[in-house]
Amino acid sequence: MTVETEGLLQSDLQAVLQNINLGVLLLDGECRVMFWNEFMVLNSGRDIADVVGKSLFEVCPELPKLWVQKKVDSVFALQNLAFTSWQQRPSLFNFSGSRPITGQAEAMYQNCTFSPVLDAEDNVKYVCLTVADATETATQHLQLERLNQLLQSEKDEQARLIRKLEDTQAQLLQSEKMAAIGQLAAGVAHEINNPVGYVYSNFSSLQNYVGDLFSLIDAYQKAAEQQDAAFRSVLEGINRRLDYEFVRDDMADLVKESRQGLERVKQIVQDLRDFSHIDSGDWQLADLHKGLDSTLNVIWNEIKFKAEVVKDYGDLPMVECLGSQLNQVFMNLIVNAAHAIEKQGMIWLETGRQGELVFVRVRDNGGGIAPQHLSRLFEPFFTTKPVGQGTGLGLSVSYSIVDKHNGRLEVESEVGKGTAFTVWLPLRQPQPESVSEASAP
Ligand SMILES: Nc1ncnc2c1ncn2[C@@H]1O[C@H](COP(=O)(O)OP(=O)(O)O)[C@@H](O)[C@H]1O
Ligand SMILES: [Mg+2]
Repeated sequence: MTVETEGLLQSDLQAVLQNINLGVLLLDGECRVMFWNEFMVLNSGRDIADVVGKSLFEVCPELPKLWVQKKVDSVFALQNLAFTSWQQRPSLFNFSGSRPITGQAEAMYQNCTFSPVLDAEDNVKYVCLTVADATETATQHLQLERLNQLLQSEKDEQARLIRKLEDTQAQLLQSEKMAAIGQLAAGVAHEINNPVGYVYSNFSSLQNYVGDLFSLIDAYQKAAEQQDAAFRSVLEGINRRLDYEFVRDDMADLVKESRQGLERVKQIVQDLRDFSHIDSGDWQLADLHKGLDSTLNVIWNEIKFKAEVVKDYGDLPMVECLGSQLNQVFMNLIVNAAHAIEKQGMIWLETGRQGELVFVRVRDNGGGIAPQHLSRLFEPFFTTKPVGQGTGLGLSVSYSIVDKHNGRLEVESEVGKGTAFTVWLPLRQPQPESVSEASAP
């Protein structure tokens, strides 16, 4: 290094070099140490007399030898600066942290520069390696990064909470809607139940009376055959005008059909009553698998030609429930699954336990549910089936039964692929005193 600054003594510059807050060392082509300033002495703990003329790698064995040698070689060959920052190599030299008080950085972060020192012929004579302490910047930077991460994770958490809030609100709206509809259904069921009851019983009497009247007419007709021709022709005239033979035949059909209609109305009223929990049974500890099996037996005729049923039962403990009502849920779900299958398909019955919850899933590979119908499934009277086939009460009744068990009824469906309804139930209800040991539903 040649110094030509006027007025300054070589010794002054030497002092600057020694005392600058920057590691300065000179290396020759073999990476031998030619110079080593006070910063290096302080941080490495090795005096200049110890290191001069020695290989840098002997003095500082922690250095990545190949990498440093390559840097030095490139400076000799290209006469260019080479640089490495703390982000690339946080601590090239094994120096301890310069901020021991805050305890944030145990090792010193360093920015290192390799620069050429030229001789009179402009050839590289030495490589000057400077080591700058970047601990301050690095710790601030890292702290900022940590804070950023924290902020990001808080943001993620917030987004998760917002989503949860939205879900809860949707559920709340749904359950409010169901509660309102439940009340309406209870009112309607109550109002209809009475008149339907007496119409139904009157109808039986009516059927008997009509029979009696026909017998009476038969008797009169027989008696009329003994009367004179004029009387008989008047009677025949009346018979023809009223189309008596037809009325007589049709009457029987009318009565039969009306009775069937009344029976359907009675069933709908019963479903509505179930839906709005007018009647409730006993809470029991029950084996859901037995319930599923017995339900499947009851409806087997409706299923067997449509679907193969595969049971994938998990390990289920006894569950506190209203057994017969749950069976009704299973029945609705399985029958719906069978209805969703057009020709021949599969129905899977899966059960399992997750912590304090158990699930019963009825899955099919039928036609699936259109997305716009998903939110309406649980409304009473919502049906996509032709008039006379679906009442649209199955799922609404099921929903309210599951709700009464403090459980939830979930649906997943893909058009053309199939549908899965999952009943989630808690093992025990909030008031354990209502439990009585009993057998399966
Ligand atoms: N497994 C299923 N696959 C496809 N659609 C279904 C399934 N279960 C229910 N649905 C749809 O939900 C509607 C309502 O069902 P539900 O309340 O049981 O009434 P219903 O069976 O009398 O129509 C059905 O009409 C049907 O469109
Ligand atoms: Mg149904």
